[in-house]
Amino acid sequence: MQGEKGVIFSGMRPTGRLHLGNLLGALENWIRLQDDYKCYYCIVDWHAMTTDYENPSRINENVLEMAMDWLSCGMDPEKAVIFRQSDVKEHAELHLLLSMVTPLSWLERCPTYKDQLQQIEGRNLATYGFIGYPVLQAADILLYKADAVPVGEDQDAHLELSREIVRRFNHIYGKKVFPEPKTLHNQYKIVLGLDRRKMSKSYNNTIEIAGKPEEIRQKIRMMITDPGRIRKDDPGNPSICSVFAFHQIFNTEPALAEIEESCARGTIGCVACKDNLSKVLLEYLEPIHKRRRELEKNPGRVKEILEDGRQKALQVARKTMEEVRTVMGLQGFTVK
Ligand code: TRP
Ligand code: SF4
Repeated sequence: MQGEKGVIFSGMRPTGRLHLGNLLGALENWIRLQDDYKCYYCIVDWHAMTTDYENPSRINENVLEMAMDWLSCGMDPEKAVIFRQSDVKEHAELHLLLSMVTPLSWLERCPTYKDQLQQIEGRNLATYGFIGYPVLQAADILLYKADAVPVGEDQDAHLELSREIVRRFNHIYGKKVFPEPKTLHNQYKIVLGLDRRKMSKSYNNTIEIAGKPEEIRQKIRMMITDPGRIRKDDPGNPSICSVFAFHQIFNTEPALAEIEESCARGTIGCVACKDNLSKVLLEYLEPIHKRRRELEKNPGRVKEILEDGRQKALQVARKTMEEVRTVMGLQGFTVK
Protein backbone atom coordinates (compact mmCIF):
# COMPACT_ATOMS: atom_id res chain seq x y z
CA MET A 1 0.00 0.00 0.00
CA GLN A 2 1.16 3.51 -0.71
CA GLY A 3 0.52 5.51 2.43
CA GLU A 4 -2.70 4.93 4.29
CA LYS A 5 -5.05 4.35 1.43
CA GLY A 6 -5.34 1.21 -0.64
CA VAL A 7 -4.35 1.52 -4.28
CA ILE A 8 -6.82 1.06 -7.10
CA PHE A 9 -5.93 0.76 -10.76
CA SER A 10 -8.22 0.41 -13.73
CA GLY A 11 -8.09 1.04 -17.44
CA MET A 12 -10.36 1.46 -20.44
CA ARG A 13 -9.51 1.19 -24.09
CA PRO A 14 -10.14 4.42 -26.00
CA THR A 15 -12.52 3.15 -28.64
CA GLY A 16 -14.91 6.09 -28.94
CA ARG A 17 -17.60 7.79 -26.94
CA LEU A 18 -18.84 6.11 -23.79
CA HIS A 19 -22.49 5.21 -23.31
CA LEU A 20 -24.87 4.89 -20.38
CA GLY A 21 -23.89 1.25 -19.92
CA ASN A 22 -20.26 2.29 -19.38
CA LEU A 23 -21.34 5.05 -17.01
CA LEU A 24 -23.58 2.95 -14.79
CA GLY A 25 -21.66 -0.30 -15.14
CA ALA A 26 -18.16 1.04 -14.48
CA LEU A 27 -17.50 4.74 -14.43
CA GLU A 28 -19.84 5.61 -11.55
CA ASN A 29 -18.12 2.97 -9.49
CA TRP A 30 -14.65 4.27 -10.33
CA ILE A 31 -15.75 7.76 -9.40
CA ARG A 32 -17.13 6.58 -6.08
CA LEU A 33 -13.81 4.89 -5.26
CA GLN A 34 -11.75 8.03 -5.77
CA ASP A 35 -12.70 9.34 -2.32
CA ASP A 36 -11.44 6.36 -0.37
CA TYR A 37 -8.51 5.03 -2.37
CA LYS A 38 -5.45 6.20 -4.19
CA CYS A 39 -6.83 5.70 -7.70
CA TYR A 40 -5.01 5.41 -11.00
CA TYR A 41 -7.29 5.55 -14.03
CA CYS A 42 -5.55 4.88 -17.29
CA ILE A 43 -6.59 5.31 -20.90
CA VAL A 44 -4.98 2.20 -22.30
CA ASP A 45 -4.16 3.16 -25.87
CA TRP A 46 -1.57 0.41 -26.31
CA HIS A 47 -4.27 -2.12 -25.50
CA ALA A 48 -6.41 -0.56 -28.22
CA MET A 49 -3.46 -1.00 -30.59
CA THR A 50 -3.36 -4.76 -30.00
CA THR A 51 -6.49 -5.10 -32.12
CA ASP A 52 -6.60 -1.81 -34.07
CA TYR A 53 -2.99 -1.55 -35.09
CA GLU A 54 -3.97 -1.14 -38.72
CA ASN A 55 -6.16 1.93 -38.08
CA PRO A 56 -4.46 4.09 -35.51
CA SER A 57 -5.53 7.40 -37.04
CA ARG A 58 -8.24 8.20 -34.49
CA ILE A 59 -6.29 7.25 -31.43
CA ASN A 60 -5.35 10.75 -30.23
CA GLU A 61 -8.88 11.96 -30.77
CA ASN A 62 -10.29 8.96 -28.92
CA VAL A 63 -7.98 9.49 -25.97
CA LEU A 64 -9.22 13.07 -25.58
CA GLU A 65 -12.85 11.96 -26.02
CA MET A 66 -12.44 9.40 -23.27
CA ALA A 67 -10.76 11.86 -20.93
CA MET A 68 -13.63 14.29 -21.52
CA ASP A 69 -16.22 11.61 -20.83
CA TRP A 70 -14.47 10.64 -17.60
CA LEU A 71 -14.05 14.20 -16.40
CA SER A 72 -17.52 15.34 -17.29
CA CYS A 73 -18.99 12.40 -15.35
CA GLY A 74 -17.19 13.54 -12.22
CA MET A 75 -13.77 11.98 -12.23
CA ASP A 76 -11.65 14.45 -10.31
CA PRO A 77 -7.99 15.06 -11.25
CA GLU A 78 -7.39 16.33 -7.72
CA LYS A 79 -8.33 12.95 -6.34
CA ALA A 80 -7.46 10.39 -9.02
CA VAL A 81 -4.43 10.12 -11.28
CA ILE A 82 -5.84 10.25 -14.80
CA PHE A 83 -3.37 9.43 -17.54
CA ARG A 84 -2.61 7.85 -20.87
CA GLN A 85 -0.78 4.52 -20.91
CA SER A 86 1.59 5.33 -23.77
CA ASP A 87 2.73 8.45 -21.91
CA VAL A 88 4.40 6.28 -19.28
CA LYS A 89 6.92 4.10 -21.10
CA GLU A 90 7.57 2.08 -17.95
CA HIS A 91 4.41 0.12 -18.83
CA ALA A 92 6.30 -1.19 -21.86
CA GLU A 93 9.42 -2.04 -19.92
CA LEU A 94 7.52 -3.94 -17.25
CA HIS A 95 5.50 -5.69 -19.94
CA LEU A 96 8.75 -6.86 -21.50
CA LEU A 97 10.23 -8.08 -18.23
CA LEU A 98 7.02 -9.84 -17.14
CA SER A 99 6.88 -11.53 -20.52
CA MET A 100 10.14 -13.27 -19.60
CA VAL A 101 8.50 -15.11 -16.70
CA THR A 102 5.07 -15.74 -18.25
CA PRO A 103 4.67 -19.23 -19.71
CA LEU A 104 3.17 -19.16 -23.17
CA SER A 105 0.68 -21.87 -22.16
CA TRP A 106 -0.97 -19.48 -19.66
CA LEU A 107 -1.66 -17.05 -22.47
CA GLU A 108 -2.76 -19.66 -24.99
CA ARG A 109 -5.37 -21.07 -22.63
CA CYS A 110 -6.74 -17.66 -21.65
CA PRO A 111 -10.46 -17.78 -22.60
CA THR A 112 -10.64 -14.18 -23.83
CA TYR A 113 -7.75 -14.86 -26.19
CA LYS A 114 -9.47 -17.88 -27.70
CA ASP A 115 -12.86 -16.13 -27.96
CA GLN A 116 -11.56 -12.98 -29.53
CA LEU A 117 -9.39 -14.80 -32.05
CA GLN A 118 -12.61 -16.36 -33.31
CA GLN A 119 -14.94 -13.41 -32.94
CA ILE A 120 -12.93 -10.56 -34.35
CA GLU A 121 -12.99 -11.00 -38.07
CA GLY A 122 -11.13 -9.28 -40.83
CA ARG A 123 -8.02 -8.60 -38.78
CA ASN A 124 -4.95 -10.69 -38.28
CA LEU A 125 -4.75 -11.22 -34.56
CA ALA A 126 -2.23 -14.02 -34.67
CA THR A 127 0.27 -11.49 -33.38
CA TYR A 128 2.76 -11.37 -30.57
CA GLY A 129 1.12 -8.17 -29.27
CA PHE A 130 -2.34 -9.69 -29.09
CA ILE A 131 -1.41 -12.85 -27.24
CA GLY A 132 0.50 -10.66 -24.81
CA TYR A 133 -2.56 -8.50 -24.04
CA PRO A 134 -2.98 -9.86 -20.49
CA VAL A 135 0.74 -9.42 -19.75
CA LEU A 136 0.46 -5.75 -20.67
CA GLN A 137 -2.60 -5.53 -18.43
CA ALA A 138 -0.66 -7.13 -15.57
CA ALA A 139 2.13 -4.60 -16.13
CA ASP A 140 -0.39 -1.75 -15.89
CA ILE A 141 -1.67 -2.99 -12.56
CA LEU A 142 1.63 -4.05 -11.02
CA LEU A 143 3.49 -0.87 -11.88
CA TYR A 144 1.37 0.90 -9.27
CA LYS A 145 1.28 -2.12 -6.92
CA ALA A 146 -2.48 -1.94 -7.00
CA ASP A 147 -4.36 -3.72 -4.22
CA ALA A 148 -7.59 -3.92 -6.18
CA VAL A 149 -8.87 -3.53 -9.71
CA PRO A 150 -12.49 -2.55 -10.43
CA VAL A 151 -13.61 -4.35 -13.58
CA GLY A 152 -16.51 -6.25 -15.07
CA GLU A 153 -16.73 -10.03 -14.89
CA ASP A 154 -15.39 -10.30 -18.42
CA GLN A 155 -11.97 -9.41 -16.99
CA ASP A 156 -11.80 -12.21 -14.40
CA ALA A 157 -9.45 -14.37 -16.42
CA HIS A 158 -7.06 -11.47 -16.98
CA LEU A 159 -6.98 -10.64 -13.29
CA GLU A 160 -6.36 -14.26 -12.38
CA LEU A 161 -3.45 -14.25 -14.80
CA SER A 162 -2.07 -11.09 -13.20
CA ARG A 163 -2.12 -12.83 -9.83
CA GLU A 164 -0.39 -15.90 -11.27
CA ILE A 165 2.30 -13.68 -12.76
CA VAL A 166 2.76 -11.97 -9.38
CA ARG A 167 3.20 -15.29 -7.61
CA ARG A 168 5.68 -16.53 -10.16
CA PHE A 169 7.64 -13.29 -10.22
CA ASN A 170 7.85 -12.99 -6.43
CA HIS A 171 8.82 -16.65 -6.18
CA ILE A 172 11.57 -16.55 -8.82
CA TYR A 173 13.20 -13.38 -7.51
CA GLY A 174 12.67 -14.34 -3.88
CA LYS A 175 11.09 -11.09 -2.80
CA LYS A 176 7.55 -9.86 -2.37
CA VAL A 177 7.86 -7.11 -4.92
CA PHE A 178 4.22 -7.09 -5.99
CA PRO A 179 1.01 -7.59 -4.01
CA GLU A 180 -1.64 -9.84 -5.57
CA PRO A 181 -4.29 -7.52 -7.00
CA LYS A 182 -7.85 -8.32 -5.95
CA THR A 183 -10.72 -8.20 -8.37
CA LEU A 184 -13.32 -5.64 -7.36
CA HIS A 185 -16.45 -6.30 -9.30
CA ASN A 186 -18.19 -3.17 -10.40
CA GLN A 187 -21.53 -2.90 -8.64
CA TYR A 188 -22.94 -3.90 -11.88
CA LYS A 189 -26.19 -2.45 -13.00
CA ILE A 190 -27.03 -4.16 -16.23
CA VAL A 191 -28.13 -1.47 -18.59
CA LEU A 192 -30.29 -2.63 -21.43
CA GLY A 193 -29.90 -1.15 -24.84
CA LEU A 194 -32.60 0.30 -27.04
CA ASP A 195 -33.49 -3.22 -28.16
CA ARG A 196 -33.49 -4.98 -24.76
CA ARG A 197 -30.16 -6.65 -25.38
CA LYS A 198 -27.34 -5.51 -23.12
CA MET A 199 -26.24 -2.00 -24.07
CA SER A 200 -23.11 -2.41 -26.13
CA LYS A 201 -21.34 -0.57 -28.88
CA SER A 202 -21.15 -3.71 -30.95
CA TYR A 203 -24.97 -4.06 -30.95
CA ASN A 204 -25.41 -0.46 -32.01
CA ASN A 205 -28.09 0.02 -29.34
CA THR A 206 -26.46 2.63 -27.14
CA ILE A 207 -27.27 6.05 -25.75
CA GLU A 208 -24.06 8.05 -25.58
CA ILE A 209 -23.34 9.97 -22.40
CA ALA A 210 -22.43 13.02 -24.46
CA GLY A 211 -25.36 12.58 -26.86
CA LYS A 212 -27.21 15.74 -27.88
CA PRO A 213 -30.58 16.11 -26.11
CA GLU A 214 -32.51 15.91 -29.37
CA GLU A 215 -30.60 12.78 -30.40
CA ILE A 216 -31.35 11.16 -27.03
CA ARG A 217 -35.07 12.03 -27.26
CA GLN A 218 -35.14 10.56 -30.74
CA LYS A 219 -33.47 7.32 -29.63
CA ILE A 220 -35.88 6.94 -26.73
CA ARG A 221 -38.84 7.44 -29.08
CA MET A 222 -37.55 4.49 -31.10
CA MET A 223 -37.19 2.16 -28.10
CA ILE A 224 -39.02 -1.13 -28.07
CA THR A 225 -41.89 -1.26 -25.57
CA ASP A 226 -44.31 -4.03 -24.60
CA PRO A 227 -45.06 -5.51 -28.05
CA GLY A 228 -48.52 -6.60 -26.82
CA ARG A 229 -49.65 -2.97 -26.55
CA ILE A 230 -51.20 -1.98 -29.81
CA ARG A 231 -53.70 0.68 -28.83
CA LYS A 232 -52.95 3.40 -26.34
CA ASP A 233 -55.42 2.04 -23.80
CA ASP A 234 -54.30 -1.60 -23.98
CA PRO A 235 -53.02 -2.72 -20.55
CA GLY A 236 -49.23 -3.02 -20.69
CA ASN A 237 -46.59 -5.05 -18.93
CA PRO A 238 -43.79 -2.77 -17.73
CA SER A 239 -41.59 -5.68 -16.70
CA ILE A 240 -40.89 -6.54 -20.33
CA CYS A 241 -40.44 -2.97 -21.51
CA SER A 242 -36.99 -1.33 -21.91
CA VAL A 243 -38.48 2.09 -21.36
CA PHE A 244 -39.62 1.00 -17.93
CA ALA A 245 -36.21 -0.57 -17.22
CA PHE A 246 -34.73 2.88 -17.82
CA HIS A 247 -37.36 4.54 -15.63
CA GLN A 248 -36.27 2.19 -12.85
CA ILE A 249 -32.72 3.48 -13.13
CA PHE A 250 -33.34 7.17 -13.62
CA ASN A 251 -36.74 7.86 -12.09
CA THR A 252 -37.72 7.87 -8.44
CA GLU A 253 -40.74 7.10 -6.32
CA PRO A 254 -43.60 7.95 -6.33
CA ALA A 255 -43.36 8.67 -10.08
CA LEU A 256 -42.10 5.15 -10.74
CA ALA A 257 -45.04 3.41 -9.08
CA GLU A 258 -47.43 5.70 -10.94
CA ILE A 259 -45.95 4.80 -14.30
CA GLU A 260 -46.08 1.12 -13.48
CA GLU A 261 -49.71 1.36 -12.49
CA SER A 262 -50.90 3.51 -15.32
CA CYS A 263 -49.11 1.30 -17.85
CA ALA A 264 -50.73 -1.81 -16.37
CA ARG A 265 -54.15 -0.11 -16.43
CA GLY A 266 -53.65 1.28 -19.90
CA THR A 267 -54.05 4.89 -18.85
CA ILE A 268 -50.73 6.17 -20.12
CA GLY A 269 -49.59 5.99 -23.73
CA CYS A 270 -46.10 4.85 -24.65
CA VAL A 271 -45.29 8.15 -26.33
CA ALA A 272 -46.03 10.11 -23.17
CA CYS A 273 -44.18 7.55 -21.09
CA LYS A 274 -41.12 7.87 -23.32
CA ASP A 275 -41.16 11.66 -23.29
CA ASN A 276 -41.34 11.50 -19.54
CA LEU A 277 -38.24 9.26 -19.54
CA SER A 278 -36.37 11.66 -21.84
CA LYS A 279 -37.10 14.46 -19.45
CA VAL A 280 -35.81 12.57 -16.42
CA LEU A 281 -32.74 11.26 -18.23
CA LEU A 282 -31.82 14.66 -19.62
CA GLU A 283 -32.13 16.17 -16.16
CA TYR A 284 -29.76 13.52 -14.89
CA LEU A 285 -27.32 14.21 -17.73
CA GLU A 286 -27.53 18.00 -17.56
CA PRO A 287 -24.64 18.58 -15.11
CA ILE A 288 -22.54 16.10 -17.11
CA HIS A 289 -23.32 17.90 -20.36
CA LYS A 290 -22.55 21.23 -18.76
CA ARG A 291 -19.08 20.11 -17.68
CA ARG A 292 -18.57 18.58 -21.10
CA ARG A 293 -19.35 21.86 -22.87
CA GLU A 294 -16.82 23.63 -20.68
CA LEU A 295 -14.15 21.06 -21.47
CA GLU A 296 -14.90 21.17 -25.18
CA LYS A 297 -14.31 24.90 -25.12
CA ASN A 298 -10.98 24.27 -23.48
CA PRO A 299 -9.26 21.15 -24.86
CA GLY A 300 -5.96 22.54 -23.56
CA ARG A 301 -7.25 21.91 -20.05
CA VAL A 302 -7.83 18.23 -20.82
CA LYS A 303 -4.31 17.88 -22.16
CA GLU A 304 -2.99 19.60 -19.03
CA ILE A 305 -4.85 17.15 -16.82
CA LEU A 306 -3.36 14.21 -18.73
CA GLU A 307 0.10 15.77 -18.48
CA ASP A 308 -0.32 16.22 -14.76
CA GLY A 309 -1.49 12.61 -14.48
CA ARG A 310 1.51 11.46 -16.51
CA GLN A 311 3.88 13.11 -14.08
CA LYS A 312 2.21 11.66 -11.02
CA ALA A 313 2.04 8.18 -12.53
CA LEU A 314 5.65 8.40 -13.67
CA GLN A 315 6.94 8.99 -10.16
CA VAL A 316 5.45 5.76 -8.91
CA ALA A 317 6.26 3.83 -12.08
CA ARG A 318 9.93 4.84 -11.92
CA LYS A 319 10.22 3.70 -8.33
CA THR A 320 8.67 0.33 -9.08
CA MET A 321 10.93 -0.18 -12.08
CA GLU A 322 14.04 0.52 -10.03
CA GLU A 323 12.96 -2.18 -7.64
CA VAL A 324 12.14 -4.59 -10.46
CA ARG A 325 15.47 -4.01 -12.20
CA THR A 326 17.29 -4.54 -8.93
CA VAL A 327 15.66 -7.85 -8.05
CA MET A 328 16.21 -9.02 -11.62
CA GLY A 329 19.86 -7.99 -11.57
CA LEU A 330 19.39 -5.33 -14.23
CA GLN A 331 20.20 -2.28 -12.17
CA GLY A 332 23.24 -1.56 -14.30
CA PHE A 333 26.73 -0.50 -13.28
CA THR A 334 27.48 2.50 -11.20
CA VAL A 335 30.36 4.48 -12.63
CA LYS A 336 32.60 5.79 -9.89
N1 TRP B 1 -8.65 -5.29 -20.60
C1 TRP B 1 -9.43 -4.22 -20.02
C2 TRP B 1 -10.77 -4.16 -20.78
O1 TRP B 1 -10.85 -4.54 -21.91
C3 TRP B 1 -8.76 -2.89 -20.12
C4 TRP B 1 -7.53 -2.82 -19.27
C5 TRP B 1 -6.25 -2.68 -19.69
C6 TRP B 1 -7.50 -2.85 -17.85
N2 TRP B 1 -5.40 -2.64 -18.64
C7 TRP B 1 -6.13 -2.73 -17.50
C8 TRP B 1 -8.48 -2.99 -16.87
C9 TRP B 1 -5.73 -2.77 -16.17
C10 TRP B 1 -8.07 -3.02 -15.53
C11 TRP B 1 -6.70 -2.92 -15.21
O2 TRP B 1 -11.74 -3.69 -20.21
FE1 SF4 C 1 -43.38 0.68 -21.63
FE2 SF4 C 1 -44.25 2.98 -20.68
FE3 SF4 C 1 -45.38 1.87 -22.84
FE4 SF4 C 1 -45.75 0.79 -20.44
S1 SF4 C 1 -46.40 2.81 -21.10
S2 SF4 C 1 -45.24 -0.32 -22.33
S3 SF4 C 1 -43.76 1.18 -19.48
S4 SF4 C 1 -43.33 2.64 -22.67
